[in-house]
Amino acid sequence: MSKRTEPNNDLPDLPPKIDLESPEILKKAIKANRVLAELKGYCQTLPDPKLLINTVVLQESKDSSAIENIVTTQDELYRAVAAIDDGFDFGSATKEVLQYREALYKGLELMEKRGLTTNTFVAIMQKLKHTGSGIRTTTGTRLANPGTKEIIYTPPEGENIIREKLLSLEKFIHNDKDDIDALIKMALIHYQFEAIHPFADGNGRTGRIMNVLYLVYKKLLNIPVLYLSSYIIQNKNEYYRLLKEVTEKQNWDDWIKFMLEAVSETASLTLEKISSIQSLKKETAVKVKRVLKTSYNSELIDLMFSFPYLKIKILERNGIGHRQTSSVYLQKLAKEKILKPLKLGKEIYYINNKLMDLISK
Ligand SMILES: Nc1ncnc2c1ncn2[C@@H]1O[C@H](COP(=O)(O)OP(=O)(O)O)[C@@H](O)[C@H]1O
Ligand SMILES: [Mg+2]
Repeated sequence: MSKRTEPNNDLPDLPPKIDLESPEILKKAIKANRVLAELKGYCQTLPDPKLLINTVVLQESKDSSAIENIVTTQDELYRAVAAIDDGFDFGSATKEVLQYREALYKGLELMEKRGLTTNTFVAIMQKLKHTGSGIRTTTGTRLANPGTKEIIYTPPEGENIIREKLLSLEKFIHNDKDDIDALIKMALIHYQFEAIHPFADGNGRTGRIMNVLYLVYKKLLNIPVLYLSSYIIQNKNEYYRLLKEVTEKQNWDDWIKFMLEAVSETASLTLEKISSIQSLKKETAVKVKRVLKTSYNSELIDLMFSFPYLKIKILERNGIGHRQTSSVYLQKLAKEKILKPLKLGKEIYYINNKLMDLISK
């Protein structure tokens, strides 16, 4: 066992030489697989999965970044989304949260093309951090307790060692013959990636993006819709403690159970959330039809659900109508209390408050 202040260059490759299928782990794995399959099934019935994913992904971007103390507000985030093509400058935290979403989509594209390889991990981190640098080449990366500054872990040092460990992680990820349950494997992979800690920063977020990509790779999901960060935020001390216990006590058991529980709980919450967004969308369409009559356009509903902070320019840009027409539509919807107008500086936003409430639940 390595000391906390010395590089963990002896980090063993996966899989750990322990019983990965104790009755308790198996029981949790079966449950997590069942709930996840329900979520997958539901997603396959959605008429417009892309639209919903965008919302869920953005929420995950916010939560996963918050674990790393990169904090933005819900309102600023959705205002930034509405301004994305206007060249507006937002706070650095908001920018990094939006980059997280880009990183996830980039990762998905690369994973589908060439798998979850070292190059894919690096590309995800580079998008996320908006940087050209890759694997750590210098010494001195340490994980410290943000409060006490006490060092809790020192990852392996030396680019070659880091690359070797990533290569064997890659092989483990793509080995379909080891017969280990995919969700248990996801837990092993997440620990291993964090223990290698290949980058100067962004390891936590890249590792959490890899989790969902792995589920898509294993076809446990057809779209990237399961995100554990909200669960992790609520159990952050345990997340940190259990990662440390794997290194220091080989306590894989509690770590695997933690991750399986995270999957079960999150999958059922996600199912609830997207089905309520789906119902809200249907109800809203009925109301909007009543208000706009023959000028009703289903693309407008899609925009209302892609941009919870809507503005005239977005309608114009998406071909709903010219400035004047778009403005009339939004004002009518505001008058009927379907959207709530909010003036901020020169801009009037029309907010889909019911959606905002559902999203932030
Ligand atoms: N004891 C530990 N051993 C290995 N990894 C850890 C440990 N404790 C926390 N971590 C991981 O390190 C991440 C933080 O690393 P960092 O590179 O700063 O990521 P990010 O910039 O995304 O915050 C945490 O989110 C967690 O996943
Ligand atoms: Mg960090």
